[in-house]
Amino acid sequence: MKIGILGYGTVGSGFIDVIDNNRDKRDIEICKILVSDKYKHKGKKYFDKITENIEDIFEENIDVLVEVMGGLNPTLDYIKRAINNNIHVVTANKDLLAEYGDELVKLANEKGVYIKFEASVGGGIPVLKPLIESLEGNNIESISAILNGTTNFILSKMYDENLPYNIALKQAQELGFAEANPEADVMGYDAARKLSILSTLAYNNRVYWKDLYLEGITSIDERDMEYAKKLDCKIKLVGQSSLKEDKVSAFVRPVLVENNSILAKVDNEFNAVIVNGDSVGEISFVGKGAGKLATGSAVYSDVIDIIDNRINCIDSFMKNKVEINKILENKCS
Ligand code: NDP
Ligand code: HSE
Repeated sequence: MKIGILGYGTVGSGFIDVIDNNRDKRDIEICKILVSDKYKHKGKKYFDKITENIEDIFEENIDVLVEVMGGLNPTLDYIKRAINNNIHVVTANKDLLAEYGDELVKLANEKGVYIKFEASVGGGIPVLKPLIESLEGNNIESISAILNGTTNFILSKMYDENLPYNIALKQAQELGFAEANPEADVMGYDAARKLSILSTLAYNNRVYWKDLYLEGITSIDERDMEYAKKLDCKIKLVGQSSLKEDKVSAFVRPVLVENNSILAKVDNEFNAVIVNGDSVGEISFVGKGAGKLATGSAVYSDVIDIIDNRINCIDSFMKNKVEINKILENKCS
């Protein structure tokens, strides 16, 4: 299996470490790695494979393009070019999927290649694959989730250590959890994009992220933390959606969660996704929602699925957008 990688930052380097840690099990050949500034990476392993020229990636006879560079442009063009050249795609890019998932899935279906994106939601938590494959005997009724590691890290540090918001954000950036522009994290866009991807797959209907009710964490301060403590609660940035009578209700916003609830026990960069299915009842997925190796592990699993030809159906991305009910709830238990 020959792969080209776009990006050698937090996720790219985590993915490459996971490949090397598993060399005895799988032989994956890294042909080229695209970055924007090659000499920033001097001294890193695979330096001889690094290029600043996208043509070097496409000149190699690669089977899979792994996109871990982020952003919409020029990423969208690169991914479309790969699919049009019958190259499978693995991406961690929720911005791209939330915006162009329908177009990309359609193109991939037409070309008979795979596009996989486990790392785009919940970092290292395997959640999309179980949702699509293992819960097929269910109508999914609702999802409650913590979907952003950066904001969960900030809120945990503010609550547990009384750290000011700005210091906690800086730490999250240094640890590689935050987006290139952390506004996407703290304003809730990143969580909304992830909730839209999850909901699209769960309800088999296209849920568009801009239609969700959305509120970030920028106005949360130490007084809010004190009130939460008095109420025996924590404050979490919660994404919630549900399907009733063919209508989806969805929001991302800071919520008071009771200290004895599952979501309250999920701290720092950890994420949680609680799914309710009509057959199985409630299932929880919890784990690292951001970071180098954890996310690298999810990217790696997608590449292995392609090698083994284990592919699931993601046609729900091509459905018409469903109407969204914007609901507000002050308290989740
Ligand atoms: P980083 O900023 O750490 O790395 C981005 C990499 O892509 C860098 O190597 C950068 O090059 C390269 N790059 C960016 N733009 C270009 C360009 N136009 N041309 C060539 N190379 C480019 O990002 P992350 O690794 O944190 O994130 C990558 C993707 O994964 C994003 O879509 C993010 O949302 C997603 N993601 C991130 C997670 C995390 O925990 N960080 C978790 C899950 C998903 P250079 O090194 O030269 O600057
Ligand atoms: N910035 C994202 C987060 C990375 O903090 O959750 C993982 O998608």
